[in-house]
Amino acid sequence: MLLDARDLHVEFHTRDGIAHAVNGVGYAVDAGQTLAVLGESGSGKSVTAQAVMGILDTPPGRITQGRILFRGRDLLTLKGEERRRIRGTEMAMIFQDALSALNPVMTVGDQLGEMFVVHRGMSRKDARARAVELMERVRIPAAAQRVRDYPHQFSGGMRQRIMIAMALALEPALIIADEPTTALDVTVQAQVMDLLADLQREYRMGLILITHDLGVVADVADRIAVMYAGRIVETAPVHDLYKAPAHPYTRGLLDSIPRLDHKGRQLYAIKGLPPNLTHIPPGCSFHPRCPMARDVCRTDEPPLYEVSETRGSACHFWRECLDG
Ligand SMILES: Nc1ncnc2c1ncn2[C@@H]1O[C@H](COP(=O)(O)OP(=O)(O)OP(=O)(O)O)[C@@H](O)[C@H]1O
Ligand code: SF4
Ligand SMILES: [Mg+2]
Repeated sequence: MLLDARDLHVEFHTRDGIAHAVNGVGYAVDAGQTLAVLGESGSGKSVTAQAVMGILDTPPGRITQGRILFRGRDLLTLKGEERRRIRGTEMAMIFQDALSALNPVMTVGDQLGEMFVVHRGMSRKDARARAVELMERVRIPAAAQRVRDYPHQFSGGMRQRIMIAMALALEPALIIADEPTTALDVTVQAQVMDLLADLQREYRMGLILITHDLGVVADVADRIAVMYAGRIVETAPVHDLYKAPAHPYTRGLLDSIPRLDHKGRQLYAIKGLPPNLTHIPPGCSFHPRCPMARDVCRTDEPPLYEVSETRGSACHFWRECLDG
């Protein structure tokens, strides 16, 4: 397994108390695989990713428990320098907002080229040539000219391609893309997502794709992990999960996406709000919002039950949920 995160816990010390942002998350992704991580705002998707990348805001954030095995080594036990090396060359992250992730006063050619100068010891001239090649890989028109432009001279979609190029430059084994297309308009979103999926296959990278958007997941991901209040509540191969979710929260998410075959029908919305992470409800944290909740849900926290060899659900009543 390329990446295998186990029982991760992250908390933040805030003025209002301790926010339990990640509460025992485990997920794994292999080379050539895409894992989609899904869940409402505040469910801990980004914090989990930051913990894996080693870029958590510390303080206030702190990993209190867990292991992050990357190619068999526990990243949490590595010394600073080795950790930085792995983060710089073997894993990379793509963020939602390219404009703030890129350096505004450096041409994109220099930014891309610097990766090769610093990490591969290339000459400026060779690095520049590689930068142009990379820009062509991510399908930026007239790359040889545009290599001299600054980030603000590109459109949002093109900037996102440049960030993908930066992430790919050193051919990392793992890429984490955190809502990589959320800031773009819909048609551009689809193009950038297709590009990312193509490159992922071509380079046989492991990809963790964080998204709100169940719509994009179906086409590009192999597996899905659904997060709620800092836990994984369901994990399954994409098509199994779409066919029959084994958790009421997943069912709610699926029922709230617009579908062509359901035209005219009113869209479902999960009632209520995600919990305050300083006061997560006891029992099943979803119980205040769950249409299937019973007494036991208010007191007993469901473990991640094994639904099948490849599926898990943290719902006491996953069987009923599966049966619809
Ligand atoms: N720097 C921080 N300081 C304090 N608390 C934080 C910080 N970063 C995250 N948190 C806490 O962790 C929770 C989970 O945040 P996270 O960014 O992982 O959510 P997310 O699932 O990525 O949401 P979104 O879809 O909005 O990006 C937040 O609701 C917040 O309580
Ligand atoms: S354990 Fe209970 S409250 Fe939680 S999702 Fe299942 S039915 Fe709903
Ligand atoms: Mg996030």
